[in-house]
Amino acid sequence: MSNRSTTIAVFGAYGHTARFVVRSLREVGLKVVEVGRDRGRLPAAGVVAVVDDPVSLDRAFDGVGAVVNCAGPFLDTAGPVVEAALRAGAHYVDIAAEQGVTMELLGRYDAPARQAGVAVVPSAAFYGGLGDLLVTAALGDWTSVDDVRIAIALSSWLPTEGTRRTIARNTGRHVVFTDNEFVPAPSVPGTVLWRFPHRAGEQRLTELSTSDQVTIAHHVRTPRVSVHVNAEPLADLRDPASPPPPPVDDLGRSAQTFHVDAVVSRDGVHRRASASGQDIYAVSGPLAAGVVARLLDDRPSPTGAVTAGRLLDGGGFLRSLDPAHLAFSVG
Ligand SMILES: NC(=O)c1ccc[n+]([C@@H]2O[C@H](COP(=O)([O-])OP(=O)(O)OC[C@H]3O[C@@H](n4cnc5c(N)ncnc54)[C@H](OP(=O)(O)O)[C@@H]3O)[C@@H](O)[C@H]2O)c1
Repeated sequence: MSNRSTTIAVFGAYGHTARFVVRSLREVGLKVVEVGRDRGRLPAAGVVAVVDDPVSLDRAFDGVGAVVNCAGPFLDTAGPVVEAALRAGAHYVDIAAEQGVTMELLGRYDAPARQAGVAVVPSAAFYGGLGDLLVTAALGDWTSVDDVRIAIALSSWLPTEGTRRTIARNTGRHVVFTDNEFVPAPSVPGTVLWRFPHRAGEQRLTELSTSDQVTIAHHVRTPRVSVHVNAEPLADLRDPASPPPPPVDDLGRSAQTFHVDAVVSRDGVHRRASASGQDIYAVSGPLAAGVVARLLDDRPSPTGAVTAGRLLDGGGFLRSLDPAHLAFSVG
């Protein structure tokens, strides 16, 4: 570990995804201070802080090595929390799936983070993180590609309250990355027929605007990044009667399964990396914890705004995860 503090502040600590993040941070040997706005939902040792009171954030983040922001909608929390992390001289990591927020963090906070000698890593989670790590793994020795495609198959997507609130709040700009630029997503999303190399088989997928387009385009030399998902999860999300994800195992995971393919192409040659697992909220825990552990390990840590795929050796990291969290393959 570096000489930074190994105590990590988790903001929004009693949220559904935050609980997985807190457990994963402890599993990699880090200490956690649980921070949130509701005293009644925090443990006795937890710290109350609210985004419109910078003094409360400064108190909560004093002396920590990193802050992990799990409180979404991130449109409301990312700005105040990243600024407080920078004032504290702590790395900032979040799990945002909102494109606009991730873009803003990667753009606006690069120079301030360098100045503070820390890293700002948005979207270190299923959306924005896993696809980015898979792309890094698939690239191998290629430094530029003609095309990056992410294909996601979910058995279902029963959304948490935070997901619902974020979708309702995030009505602004949704973009796709094509011809080297971000452009507004078409009002009728495109579809593709995709053959998954596992039991998801062949499926028609719909284009989805996620933070993956933003994290991948930030560091991979390519003119095009597309993300597509199957129909079932989109139907669940649209259904106001969908319940929150019910836990079915000791880890508190739901029965939802995921499979993600990342395919990079150059001169007609394709390279693929894939990951499968259970519960997109739960897997965000080890992804975020892996980023934090890397930022605090003995190796020189980059400063400025970076993505998980830029920070970590995608293949090495995904292979190192407990297969209970995620199964990884290349080719
Ligand atoms: N990128 C990904 O793949 C990924 C994966 C999982 C989750 N997420 C995102 O993470 C966020 C949380 O999701 P979740 O499933 O954990 O939802 P959740 O269970 O509803 O938890 C949300 C947490 O955020 C806190 N919060 C929300 N707004 C806040 C504010 N303005 N100030 C302080 N705390 C605030 C909530 O506190 P209160 O209960 O006090 O409101 C709660 O602790 C969502 O934006 C979701 O889209 C992204």
